[in-house]
Amino acid sequence: MVRAVRTHTEASSGRLLEIGPGGGELLAELARELPGWRLLGVELSQRNVLIAGERLRSAGLSDRVTLVVADYVTGPGRGVFDVIVAQSVLHLITTSDLDLCRRLGNDLSPRGLLVITIPYDCWYNRCVWLSRRVLRHMPSALVDRLGEAVGRLVHPALDPELVRQRLPYLRSVPHRVDSPAFRSLLRDVSGLGLVEAVTLARRSPAQPRHRLLVFTKAP
Ligand SMILES: C[S@@+](CC[C@H](N)C(=O)[O-])C[C@H]1O[C@@H](n2cnc3c(N)ncnc32)[C@H](O)[C@@H]1O
Repeated sequence: MVRAVRTHTEASSGRLLEIGPGGGELLAELARELPGWRLLGVELSQRNVLIAGERLRSAGLSDRVTLVVADYVTGPGRGVFDVIVAQSVLHLITTSDLDLCRRLGNDLSPRGLLVITIPYDCWYNRCVWLSRRVLRHMPSALVDRLGEAVGRLVHPALDPELVRQRLPYLRSVPHRVDSPAFRSLLRDVSGLGLVEAVTLARRSPAQPRHRLLVFTKAP
């Protein structure tokens, strides 16, 4: 994500929005890479905002980075941004594709950049989502216990608390994926043209495969 933002952005100052920054790892990295910029994270989870806020404070970055707890699509507008990033978030947003695309189009400045990672349709991801649908029908305490044990086995270096925080994703299925229809809406409703698409390496067997997509808004 940082590489893509750097490659396609030359301005020494501007406004960047991250949708769903989670614990703030990427937001902190972007704030370091873009020293003249002001950054905003809009995050649904209050708990994540507290974690991200602490990370940014201890890195000495909180003077340029603001965090708000809100739903990105239904929450209040926050002005216009030169760059919007969303890492593994857009498929989790529950509002309609149309409302999401309208919001993205309104929030990006002319020539603005949208950098996202999002799952795509493939046999591997279909298996992941099928297994998650099955898990939804099993007792949640059992699924969480099993998920935690497997998570610790597969990611021994990961903080056990982080493994626990990710357990709800064992039951989550996407509201959208990268598809010709979604790309068409981004083009027709948001005014965005695709400039880069990269299939990413998988970070965990339990995670769906993602693509990194970069769009620019028409002038
Ligand atoms: C899979 S996590 C990814 C977190 C972070 N971007 C990362 O890559 O580590 C998805 C995040 O999006 C947030 N989220 C989901 N729907 C949202 C919405 N409608 N508005 C803002 N944030 C949202 C969740 O609370 C969660 O922190």
